[in-house]
Amino acid sequence: MNLSQTFLGVTFENPTVLASGILGITASSWRAVARGGAGAVTTKSLWPVEHQGNRNPTIISTEHWTLNAVGVPDAGPAKAKEEIAEFLKDHPVPLIANVIGLVPEEFAAITEVVVPLKPDFLEVNLSTPTFRKLRGKLFAEDANEAAKIIRAVKEVSGVVPVFAKLTPDVPTIGEIARACVDAGANGITAINTAGPGMAIDLRSRMPILAAHSGGLSGPALKPIAVRCIAEIYDATGGKVPIIGTGGVYTGEDALELMLAGATLVGIGTAVAERGIDVFKKVCDEIQMWCTNEGVWEIRDLVGGMHRELSKTIEN
Ligand SMILES: Cc1cc2nc3c(=O)[nH]c(=O)nc-3n(C[C@H](O)[C@H](O)[C@H](O)COP(=O)(O)O)c2cc1C
Repeated sequence: MNLSQTFLGVTFENPTVLASGILGITASSWRAVARGGAGAVTTKSLWPVEHQGNRNPTIISTEHWTLNAVGVPDAGPAKAKEEIAEFLKDHPVPLIANVIGLVPEEFAAITEVVVPLKPDFLEVNLSTPTFRKLRGKLFAEDANEAAKIIRAVKEVSGVVPVFAKLTPDVPTIGEIARACVDAGANGITAINTAGPGMAIDLRSRMPILAAHSGGLSGPALKPIAVRCIAEIYDATGGKVPIIGTGGVYTGEDALELMLAGATLVGIGTAVAERGIDVFKKVCDEIQMWCTNEGVWEIRDLVGGMHRELSKTIEN
């Protein structure tokens, strides 16, 4: 069973990817994730200037969902450069540099910082839900605004492929994805956390998170991720690589996202529950399923649901 795939000039030994914002931003934590079996790692969102995060508590988890309002804290571009350069010295797995900003110039500025380090892909975060508090709406809620950011990044990204990271909280995610691709995006990451949601402590009658609300991730997000990926795959004619992310805990979850159209599968919230070697566990589960089903190439599964659906329409 071959779990590896090569696309946009990069080889991934397996389809699992550390999702952005999980396990901090140090070369040593990314190396630990690579040893835990990840096929690639994503940095947390990098700003062009240092940013403080929100006050604690910033995370609340149940077995069904997690809410987070960490507020995208960042130690600034000098620290990011140092850690990315250190990781890329031996480059155990591909690195995806995730960038963020409040205006197109900020996205371009941080892209110019990371591109000389030669990350494998750039991921443009257009979709952290808590950004609604900072700028009213998310870039990924509006096709024109999303395209404007992608164009600003593409002007300075050189040969590094660019992925647009989208929010599920829109009526037509396929249209937003297509606008990003038309603006030059080489791939789509879907999805970011949803909501935001809120949880209340019954005794104090107060919101549990200091920021009151936070982005929803974990198992409850998976069916929404599957539908979003399927719509993006349809809207882009199955020709654009998708990093599917949202509620993946097991190999079967990962396979479901791949059948919807994901080429790679991001894993975030599950790291807290299944441990840093969740990537290896998920790959073992994929291997076992594929062996039982007689599937020998993982890439044969990508978009499989769409091929089955078209057979039923043809007949
Ligand atoms: C604590 C936490 C921090 C996150 N920080 C970021 C971030 O900095 N940038 C980003 O693009 N996504 C961020 N995300 C979103 C994840 O990358 C992912 O898209 C989302 O959590 C859905 O995947 P999951 O259900 O596997 O966690 C964060 C998620 C969590 C739980």
